Amino acid sequence: MKKIGIIGAMELEVETLKSKMTITRTVTKASMTFEEGTLNGISVVIVRSGIGKVNAGMCTQILADVFEVTHIINTGVAGSLKAEINIGDIVVSTDAIYHDMDATSFGYPLGEVPQMGVREFVADSHMIEEAVASCKRVCPEISVYTGRITSGDQFVADKAVKNRIIENFGGSCCEMEGCAIAHASYLNNIPFVIIRAISDKADDSAETDYPTFEKHAAEHSAKLVEDFIARI
Ligand code: ADE
Repeated sequence: MKKIGIIGAMELEVETLKSKMTITRTVTKASMTFEEGTLNGISVVIVRSGIGKVNAGMCTQILADVFEVTHIINTGVAGSLKAEINIGDIVVSTDAIYHDMDATSFGYPLGEVPQMGVREFVADSHMIEEAVASCKRVCPEISVYTGRITSGDQFVADKAVKNRIIENFGGSCCEMEGCAIAHASYLNNIPFVIIRAISDKADDSAETDYPTFEKHAAEHSAKLVEDFIARI
């Protein structure tokens, strides 16, 4: 039976979703609180992973091992890497890649984890399609894009860093968890999708734009997830 793991990055978003859930079990593991139950009639586990790749990867593994989820959704905010993708827009992942993995000295392509055999982790096509459709249905005023998510343990707030990521990886947005969730999902053979609202342009104004936008992003994201889970 379908059971969807939802990893939210924002406190407000996760709180909103939890308040709408019927909770049947609460498990705390690795300092993360997992709420299991139903949302909109669908079996879900909702959790806030914390920031960065290790938290995100561990969180995904716990969803696989302890809760045996069948699908994983990651929501949150991200910095835009494309001029046409603006603050408030939504990016649904086609795939995810690490922008801070470099084993080129050993002959691996930039971004590829040695011995993995893959450089980018591809999101589930049905989940991509339905996430885009849900976004158009419940947030029709928002522009939704599909594209590559780039992840690294770095808040990108510098034009030179942003341009280097674009040159090397050509992504649509940058954030700090998505690829680790994609990587762990791939290793566990669990279909995933990442849905990110743009909070800043990953340049010198990123630090000021980010907090202003977070509240709106959390509201949109909670609405979207509620609709989306019924269609997976
Ligand atoms: N999350 C939101 N904005 C970001 C940025 N500019 N860099 C990394 N993660 C982000």
